[in-house]
Amino acid sequence: DWTMESFAQRAIREIKEQVGNEKVVCALSGGVDSSVAAVLVHKAIGDNLTCIFVDHGLLRKGEAEEVVRTFKEQFQMNLVFVDARERFLAKLKGVRDPEQKRKIIGHEFIRVFEEEAAKLGDIRFLVQGTLYPDVVESGTATAATIKSHHNVGGLPEDMKFQLIEPLRWLFKDEVRELGLELGLPESIVWRHPFPGPGLAVRVLGEITEEKLAILREADYIFIDELKKSGWYRKTWQAFAVLPNLQSVGVMGDERTYAYTIALRAVTSEDGMTADWVRLPYELLEKISARIVGEVKGVNRVVYDITSKPPATIEWE
Ligand code: XMP
Repeated sequence: DWTMESFAQRAIREIKEQVGNEKVVCALSGGVDSSVAAVLVHKAIGDNLTCIFVDHGLLRKGEAEEVVRTFKEQFQMNLVFVDARERFLAKLKGVRDPEQKRKIIGHEFIRVFEEEAAKLGDIRFLVQGTLYPDVVESGTATAATIKSHHNVGGLPEDMKFQLIEPLRWLFKDEVRELGLELGLPESIVWRHPFPGPGLAVRVLGEITEEKLAILREADYIFIDELKKSGWYRKTWQAFAVLPNLQSVGVMGDERTYAYTIALRAVTSEDGMTADWVRLPYELLEKISARIVGEVKGVNRVVYDITSKPPATIEWE
């Protein structure tokens, strides 16, 4: 009978057969799918797998460190950590248009990945965390449009890799089960989806280091409180947004003129439609008080109560 353990063993056997002694590369994002796929391939071929993780400077607080801790230290995998922060931020300087941001980040990501993969010598295989719904839907017009719009982590077709897609028969909940089976930490297995362009589409308008720093702190507090109260797991996606908006506030005897933080938490099946989460007022109050109290440069917090449609999940 079918168990996740037997699935894993069979997948590992098949990867070994497919790859032999060749070298394999993986673009690791730290998301559930690429993480589970990477660990599975690592179980099969060990050091012949190299993972490339690109820090584009648009990650959340602690995210890069967690990837290094998990994959390099815990799983002892070959991990190439690319600090490309300056490079991406330089390219994004002065850019305000959301689609332009996505395009720049997508192109730059491919360049960085190509450069790093070239340093590894002769590589024939690429690991991808493709799931069953991606395989099934990739024929439909809607899915194709959403893919081209959203798939910033995508790699160019002319990179002549053979694909290893060990998750292509699994649904998301099965990938999570497999991740737990393989010993991945819960923080990765239950991670919310995070867009390829990262915080670039959550800092509305021009991206600056100052705005990124404010958003990171606010987002960290929000997620921390959701985890502590048990709401994180009941939510499809939750995050803070920094609208390009400053407003007047008061602190002690002083007037302030500082940023607004918007909080977004939604439930969804697949990201196509979504409903806002009815978080308890007491929890929202606590989060709001912590953000204005702990994050310098913020004097107002609002909660997004719009569903998708008509709004999107992200603000850009
Ligand atoms: P929207 O905002 O269109 O988002 O309702 C639907 C889902 O897609 C994610 N998203 C992206 N993912 N690159 C990605 O990899 C992107 O450019 C991108 N934009 C949105 C979003 O986080 C949500 O899960």
